[in-house]
Order: sequence, then structure tokens, then C-alpha cells
Amino acid sequence: MADLSVVLCGIKLRNPLVLASGPLSWSAAGIRAAFEAGAAAVVTKTIRVTAATNPRPHIAAAGHRSMLNTEAWSDLPAQQWIEQEIPSLSDRKGVLIASTGHTPEEVKHLARPLARIGADMLELVSYRAQDAAPMVAVAKRTVSIPVLVKVSANWPDLVGIVKACLQAGADGITAIDSLGPALRVDVETRKPVLGSFAWLSGEAILPAALASVASIRLEHGDSCSVVGTGGVTGARDVLEMLMVGATAVGVHSAPLLQGLGWFDKTLTQLTAWLDARTHTDLSSLRGTALQSLKEPFVSPVVTFSFDANACTLCGRCETVCAYGARRVLPGPEMRLDTVLCRSCSLCTSVCPTGALRA
Ligand SMILES: Cc1cc2nc3c(=O)[nH]c(=O)nc-3n(C[C@H](O)[C@H](O)[C@H](O)COP(=O)(O)O)c2cc1C
Ligand code: SF4
Ligand code: SF4
Repeated sequence: MADLSVVLCGIKLRNPLVLASGPLSWSAAGIRAAFEAGAAAVVTKTIRVTAATNPRPHIAAAGHRSMLNTEAWSDLPAQQWIEQEIPSLSDRKGVLIASTGHTPEEVKHLARPLARIGADMLELVSYRAQDAAPMVAVAKRTVSIPVLVKVSANWPDLVGIVKACLQAGADGITAIDSLGPALRVDVETRKPVLGSFAWLSGEAILPAALASVASIRLEHGDSCSVVGTGGVTGARDVLEMLMVGATAVGVHSAPLLQGLGWFDKTLTQLTAWLDARTHTDLSSLRGTALQSLKEPFVSPVVTFSFDANACTLCGRCETVCAYGARRVLPGPEMRLDTVLCRSCSLCTSVCPTGALRA
């Protein structure tokens, strides 16, 4: 069976799955449940000097696998985290990452007590790009445990901010936070579903998260650990994150929407995928998609293969062709008008059975 362990900022995780900061890590009870479910590391809900009061409502599903939220940081006081929640996790089954921020002043106040009571790492987060590197500088002067900094794809100069954070001493980067502003409207009430603009997470943000992780790796090489976070819904997404260079993979919306059983299901699928291809560990996959991004893109001739035995005659390949180039006939038989076909490959990407491939 493949070895799923990874090393994040010098600390071994038994598998690459990290429960990212959010409502599931709201307290020691939530964190313990996530470890039991299979998360190798858990990031606490963000701990700030003053406890949050959230608007009501503040979380809504936006489609089956994405969601909106206007949730702030932890609604538990910092003192409770320091005196009760984290100390009660001393017998935990995984790596505990304490999330804190959002300003250098707060990091100065909270970093030391969080490290002292047993957090294995810190993750610093802020809504403001200009606070990221100064928070890292304060934390690195204050504690000796590894310091991650969480970055947002909302920031125009993401790789520049990462550079400043690494220069300030960050041991790793968590990319990305929820994206925003985002909005859905309830057509019956004619009001925003959460009453205002919100943050978007889950499946819809996976491409943005992958691009952010890849950009960080292309710019900064292997100089730090990266927790690739955002939009992961299953084992294939975990593999994509690893292939663009992630050291470990953060997730919150998927287990929130599907339940904590998501961790075990995903680890089983991941192991099966690796075993079927005789990969003994994850290291041989890491960063393997980056080489193509470094080379100038040469447009290859697209050739198609069609497996009539696998075709269910669903017709999706024909429906999505904007040029009317493809026809599926009973048989099944596949016809392609090579003059009309632009080799866009959309038809192959919607085939549910793999009967049509490029
Ligand atoms: C309801 C909710 C609350 C969140 N709260 C926090 C938070 O307190 N601190 C933080 O750094 N990230 C927070 N996040 C962002 C997640 O940690 C994560 O970066 C983001 O949701 C993308 O991952 P996902 O698509 O797997 O959910 C929150 C996300 C959600 C959905
Ligand atoms: S590759 Fe694009 S243009 Fe060609 S048949 Fe498929 S969908 Fe149509
Ligand atoms: S999308 Fe795939 S399964 Fe459906 S008709 Fe086309 S080739 Fe067949």
C-alpha cells in the first residue's frame, strides 16, 4: 500500500490532508473529531484578540459543491483557546496548526501563548495583503515553531507578497483563502442569500487555487512548504494539487458539505489510485505538472480515439460542439467533420465514460 505521508515545514503528516480553518475547527471538540476522521493536520478557526460576532445567517450552499460565507474569525475568546481548547488536545492524533492574525499587533500578542500551550505550527492570516509579511516578521521574532502564512488570490501581486513573506522568514505558504466578493440572490425574497457580498469556497475556486500554487512554485521553486487549499472535493483534486507542487492539501468546504467521512473516503480513493499505478509514495508526483508550464506551449495536433464499447450514446459530445462537427450514430458510431472541427477538445472533456478521448 502506498505511503501517503508528507513533510510539512519539517513536521511529518501521516497523509497530505489538512482541515483548513473554518467552522469544523471551531473548538477542541471539532478538531478532535477531524483528527479521528483522518485529517493529518487541523488548522484552528482563526483566533483573534476579540471574539467574533457573526451575522445571521452566514453560510449558504451555492450549488452542490461550492458555498458562500460571511463568517468572521473564531467566536470563542482567545483566552478560552489558550486556557482550555488547545491544552485539552495534548493527546491529539495529528498536527495542530493555530490560525491567528489579522494584524502584526495581534500576532505579537497571541503567537507566544499559542506556541507555549502546544500548537505545532502557526498559520497567519489577514484580509489585507500589506499585513502578511509584517505578521510573519513579528511571529518569527517571537516563536520557534514553523510559521505558515495564508495568502489570497484576491491580492493582485500574489507572488510578490509571497516573496516578501519568505524574506520575512515564513516557513510555508497556505494558498488560497476563500475568494471574493461573491454573491447569490434569493429570487423569492429578491435579497442576497446572506444579506450582503460574501466569500466563495469549494469546487468553484479549484482552478484559481491550482493556478496560485503553481505560480508560487514557478516563482519560488522548492524554497518552502505549500499547503494547496481551495476547491478540493476528492482524490483527483488532491492529486492535481500535488502535481502543481503542493506539499500538503487543505480542505474545508468538502467535509463541511459532505460530512467528516469525506476524509476516509478520499484517503481510500487516493491509495487506490496510487496502488493501481504502482506509486509507492507521493513524492514522485509532486510538481510534475509544472514542467509544462515552464515550456512555451506548442499546439499539438489533436487526435481522437473512440471506444464504441464504452459509449452509452448519451450525446453530450455532440451537444457541446459549437461547430456541429461531431455526430454520434446508433451502433454506436462516431462521425467527425474534420473541416468544421477546431480541435478545442471540449467534447472529450464532457464524455462521462471515457469513450471519447483526445
Ligand atoms: C464557513 C467558512 C469559514 C472560514 N473561516 C476561516 C477562518 O476563520 N480563517 C481562515 O483562515 N480561513 C477561513 N476559511 C477559509 C478556508 O480555510 C479555506 O481557505 C477556503 O474555504 C478554501 O478551501 P475550500 O474550498 O476547501 O473550502 C473559511 C471558509 C469557510 C467556508
Ligand atoms: S474538438 Fe471541439 S470542435 Fe472538434 S468536435 Fe470536439 S467540440 Fe467540436
Ligand atoms: S459523450 Fe462519450 S458516452 Fe456520450 S455519446 Fe459521446 S462518446 Fe458516447
